[in-house]
Amino acid sequence: MNQRVTPGDLRAMKERGEKIVALTAYDRPTTEVCEAAGVDVILVGDSLGNVVLGYETTVPVTMDEMLHHAKAVTRTARRALVVADMPFLSYQTDPVEAMRNAGRFLKEANAHAVKLEGGDRSAETVHRLVTAGIPVMGHIGYTPQSAHAFGRTVVQGREADAALQLVYDALALEEAGCFAIVLECVPAEVARVVSERLAIPTIGIGAGAGCDGQILVFHDAVGLNDLKLKFVKRYAELNEQLKQAVGEYAREVRGQTFPTDAHSFKMPAEEFVIFEQEADDIGAEGCA
Ligand code: KIV
Repeated sequence: MNQRVTPGDLRAMKERGEKIVALTAYDRPTTEVCEAAGVDVILVGDSLGNVVLGYETTVPVTMDEMLHHAKAVTRTARRALVVADMPFLSYQTDPVEAMRNAGRFLKEANAHAVKLEGGDRSAETVHRLVTAGIPVMGHIGYTPQSAHAFGRTVVQGREADAALQLVYDALALEEAGCFAIVLECVPAEVARVVSERLAIPTIGIGAGAGCDGQILVFHDAVGLNDLKLKFVKRYAELNEQLKQAVGEYAREVRGQTFPTDAHSFKMPAEEFVIFEQEADDIGAEGCA
């Protein structure tokens, strides 16, 4: 399928038992790699904050930062459904603000959908956006914008009550009109039950194999950082390769083995004779 993936396609994939492949991307190179691999959903995650912009958490990320990177991704993506993450306080404070900000992702950045965090508490906002024609992806379990509230407790839904709350939250988001829900860092048993209870697909990260799809942060998956996270499988160790490559570049510049003639431009020999002569004359006049 070379046509653009739609929210309806994701639901059809769930019905057929086909797993959905999702990954974050933040710029042209990461999007190109995702497209070449046929990734179905590209999330311009607000993980942008800690992964690319150097913040400690996703909390400080702004609308302008998200729009800037979402534009880079949509300029590049041809097939994947591009979902833009609504940053902290861009949708929680009031409904008009939520609508304006979600709309900016579609109108200015050409994203196809937005994602926002929270279950039941976000359902009314989801409903308003969906009613206005904005496809919305939900996100429950560990929601990074609440990092300060969670403290060191990463895995959510380990006790029966909390797990049941996740089921309620997921059903509330489905009812509100979400086309898919990210389940982050929840026990695999809970994610499986949630996935079975929903008609819309779940996309898991640290949520086991029972979800309808999987998402990882691009840089985690390809080893572009030094993080060691239990729920991440690293498919490459690019940081190591990059450090080696840049180290070699630095050695060659210092050792004057780069650039060589192969990396240099030349002028015709007869032009050089004239140039050298005239350059000498300029020097002579300058001294006179
Ligand atoms: O911002 C992000 O990258 C996310 C994923 C971890 C799902 O929300």
